[in-house]
Amino acid sequence: MANYEIVGREDFSDVTYLLEIHHPMMARAAKPGQFVIVMLNEQGERIPLTIADFDRDKGTITLVIQAVGKTTRQMQDECRVGSSLYALVGPMGVPSPISHARKVLCVGGGLGVAPIFPQARGFKETGAYVIGVVGFRNKNLVFWDEKFKRCCDELIICTDDGSVGIKGLVTAGIQQAIEKHPDIDEVVAIGPPIMMKGCADATRPYKIKTMVSLNPVMVDGTGMCGGCRVKIGDQVKFACVDGPDFDGHLVDFDDLMTRLGRYTQTERKALEHWEKSCRLQREVGARVESANQV
Ligand SMILES: Cc1cc2nc3c(=O)[nH]c(=O)nc-3n(C[C@H](O)[C@H](O)[C@H](O)COP(=O)(O)OP(=O)(O)OC[C@H]3O[C@@H](n4cnc5c(N)ncnc54)[C@H](O)[C@@H]3O)c2cc1C
Ligand code: FES
Repeated sequence: MANYEIVGREDFSDVTYLLEIHHPMMARAAKPGQFVIVMLNEQGERIPLTIADFDRDKGTITLVIQAVGKTTRQMQDECRVGSSLYALVGPMGVPSPISHARKVLCVGGGLGVAPIFPQARGFKETGAYVIGVVGFRNKNLVFWDEKFKRCCDELIICTDDGSVGIKGLVTAGIQQAIEKHPDIDEVVAIGPPIMMKGCADATRPYKIKTMVSLNPVMVDGTGMCGGCRVKIGDQVKFACVDGPDFDGHLVDFDDLMTRLGRYTQTERKALEHWEKSCRLQREVGARVESANQV
């Protein structure tokens, strides 16, 4: 068996898929909040992905991926049960500080729903009262709601169109939870930067400690390249080694979003190039097949 064999796959929607990877050492070492850096093949880009779950008995880790660009689309096409990843490095990053808070709000939006799960479970294991808030665009994109219900004392589902749960963004769920539970000690929020910014803004007036998990562009993941530089209050930190979790009330989200948008053109070109070569391969394959039938 290859080191990084894919032993499970589930497709949650057209763009979101789960890969379960056999790696007993990684499963033993992983802690909530940590991530891995993955290469699909020898020429592949290194991409960081959060360890969304780990099973020490089965010796597996779980990644939940959104196909947003070239590499994540290529993985969606090529990663099947029985195939392998070329490289998998980790666990990386500082584990999320699972504090001794008594009442915690764990908030996940879109891409952040999966990574918030190990944190919710971690808090539950310390005996905290855990309220989950998970946000999706609509009912068809909802996943892991049963899994969350098992580790949350309350679960609030939010959808943009109101097709399930409350209509609105996760900030509406936060507001509802705070009104019902004025004694929440801590909020943990994971999702797109704009969502985490909204969460930090929602909790600031109540002075509730709010941790967020930052996702700047990472290259080496070892603190050497500076790619993942983030501004936290008056300090500069490297998310790969100092984070990825930081105090949301201190994060300069505007700087993070500007830096994330810096490579948009190159990323678009890489995706177009890959899509074109996939089309060509399919056309050549179809011609060879029809020639063989003659
Ligand atoms: C600590 C951390 C954990 C993450 N966890 C997850 C996860 O669990 N699931 C998930 O789907 N995504 C996760 N991401 C984001 C994921 O790494 C990017 O979506 C992926 O690298 C995009 O690559 P691409 O070639 O498909 O798309 P591209 O077209 O290359 O990029 C699309 C967008 O992804 C971001 N991105 C691109 N390259 C990188 C990079 N090297 N590092 C970080 N962001 C990048 C940029 O915002 C970019 O605009 C995480 C990022 C970080 C930093
Ligand atoms: S990814 Fe290079 S310093 Fe963090």
